[in-house]
Amino acid sequence: MPAYLIENDKKITTATVRVMKASGEKIAMLTAYDFTMATLLDRAGVDIVLVGDSAANTMAGYATTLPITLDEMVVYARGVVRGVKRAMVVVDMPFGSYQASPEEGVRSAVRLMKETGCDAVKLEGGREHLETVRRIVAAGIPVVGHLGLMPQSVHAYGGYGLRAKGGAEAERLLEDARLLEDAGCFALVLEKIPATLAAEATAALSIPTIGIGAGAATDGQVLVLQDMLGMNDAFRPKFLRTYADLGAQVTDAANRYVADVKQRAFPTAAESY
Ligand code: KIV
Repeated sequence: MPAYLIENDKKITTATVRVMKASGEKIAMLTAYDFTMATLLDRAGVDIVLVGDSAANTMAGYATTLPITLDEMVVYARGVVRGVKRAMVVVDMPFGSYQASPEEGVRSAVRLMKETGCDAVKLEGGREHLETVRRIVAAGIPVVGHLGLMPQSVHAYGGYGLRAKGGAEAERLLEDARLLEDAGCFALVLEKIPATLAAEATAALSIPTIGIGAGAATDGQVLVLQDMLGMNDAFRPKFLRTYADLGAQVTDAANRYVADVKQRAFPTAAESY
């Protein structure tokens, strides 16, 4: 049967996440940047795989997310899309791919959709990017918003501390959340803000909120894969729960392999042709 006739009724779509919010089913999102990990996450039942621009840190080793390019995001996203059958794949629009103008934003979003086969894009920012969001949505591309700590603005903040602790910044976040919903975002990531504020935003919106360091009241949760797998000793913030100790396991496996090679214990005759 030609691919375009195959209906995948298990695939998570914008309609599915809307129903999940309405029914109270929590949305589980994780980042991934390659085919193998994406396959494993999809098999595990992750609802949304985010090809985050955190790839700049986890995959490329940059200190911030700013240097990663659209070309690099395309390569990571293609691998992830090939690995996923059920999950929705959302790709981050990297710094410099939408800030200059709504036209640039549309062009970048179209490129991500066309060249990767992803299901949606995500961009950071509120009122300053409403026209961009509207234009991307009008092009038929689903958009996830991102408020609170926006890592692409780290130099403006001067660090990665908690955002919107109260006062004008909290008020602005709530207003931006409503504006993004009105502009057509189908979901909203809330990063590193007080749990009470995330709860307020979640109650005020009809679109789902997905939190990272934003407490338990959001409609879903997202973590960076390498962090939750315990691959990064240097990053253990309060909000992070580690579900494995993969960093130690990988080092131990590589260590035993090195010892076997040095001692001529690998390969054996049974492992040779
Ligand atoms: O890039 C990323 O991984 C993200 C998540 C932290 C939400 O934006």
